[in-house]
Amino acid sequence: MTDIASLKSELTSMVEAANNLQSLEQARVTALGKKGRITDLMKTLGGMDPEERKTTGQALNALKDEIAALIAKQESALRKQEMAGRLATETIDVTLSPQQQRKGHIHPISQTMDELVTIFADMGFEVVEGPDIEDEYHDFTALNFPIGHPAREEHDTFYLPDDPDEKGEEARKLLRTHTSAVQIHTMKKRKPPLKVMYMGRCYRADSDMTHTPMFHQFEILLVDKKSHMGHLKGCLMDFVRAFFEIDDLPVRFRPSFFPFVEPGAEMDIGCSRKGGGLKIGAGDDWLEILGCGMVHPNVLKNCGIDPDEYQGFAAGMGVDRLAMLKYGIPDLRTFFESDTRWLSHYGFDPLERPNAATGS
Ligand code: DAH
Repeated sequence: MTDIASLKSELTSMVEAANNLQSLEQARVTALGKKGRITDLMKTLGGMDPEERKTTGQALNALKDEIAALIAKQESALRKQEMAGRLATETIDVTLSPQQQRKGHIHPISQTMDELVTIFADMGFEVVEGPDIEDEYHDFTALNFPIGHPAREEHDTFYLPDDPDEKGEEARKLLRTHTSAVQIHTMKKRKPPLKVMYMGRCYRADSDMTHTPMFHQFEILLVDKKSHMGHLKGCLMDFVRAFFEIDDLPVRFRPSFFPFVEPGAEMDIGCSRKGGGLKIGAGDDWLEILGCGMVHPNVLKNCGIDPDEYQGFAAGMGVDRLAMLKYGIPDLRTFFESDTRWLSHYGFDPLERPNAATGS
């Protein structure tokens, strides 16, 4: 019995000394666990004579209940204490201005994407998506790049290791070299009329001041029965003027070749390079900004759309380049260095809306 009395005082002080939930759990295991002190004593009952077994058994059961109750009491006290501590430290001062609370910044690429989406959503374009890992068919063939065409080589494509289950050149996997591949997915999945935009990462093995192996493109596609080059030009003029926030921004379209459009063009915006710097707006020089054109009849056919009934236009642009131009960021590679000092300089306040009011 003295054993039980001294065990009781020992276990009681151990439970009372537990000052956090972890040490309380340890105390519980020591006292009541499968190999705990009380359990150990219970195991000795079998060797006792009946009278001793009865009294010791009762005393041990009483001790077990007492210690369990003490642990429960201690646990609720510790939980209360923990909650009080959290309430005292995890405070948010709602009277602080958002400026004082600000911690993170929106990356200029995300900001630019949001601006592009805002402008084109105002014109009725809807966001669709496509995968980063493509195959040759979607990235090239369906877009009217004939097999063996030199334009395929110009894309400096990252090919994935050959998959023995995929047969034929068309099925070769690659990292998409442009967002134009999303045209194919969309037109195969959905019936025209279509008025969509899509954006995301693209990959080419290229790296210098203005190229990174991973970069971002943004593209629009419209397919219906009557849209023509005039609509495309009007839409893109409205876009660049809203994006650069210059109402009279001069634009010009130069004929250009892309296999998936006919006719194809590049759009330039006015700028001035006087004094070494670049200033966007009326000036004596031009800056190339995007590629565009009327969707090639072969591309429509490849997607099961009758080119005698439907036509449409597409335009694609580099998001990183647009961000550099609009926000005066000189080196493309800095976008991807994850330098927080750079981000706090060039980044945007998360509480601000994309500054791209179209005025419509
Ligand atoms: N995919 C082209 C590139 O990566 C850009 C482009 C040009 C997209 C003309 C278009 C377009 O939709 O019509 O260089």
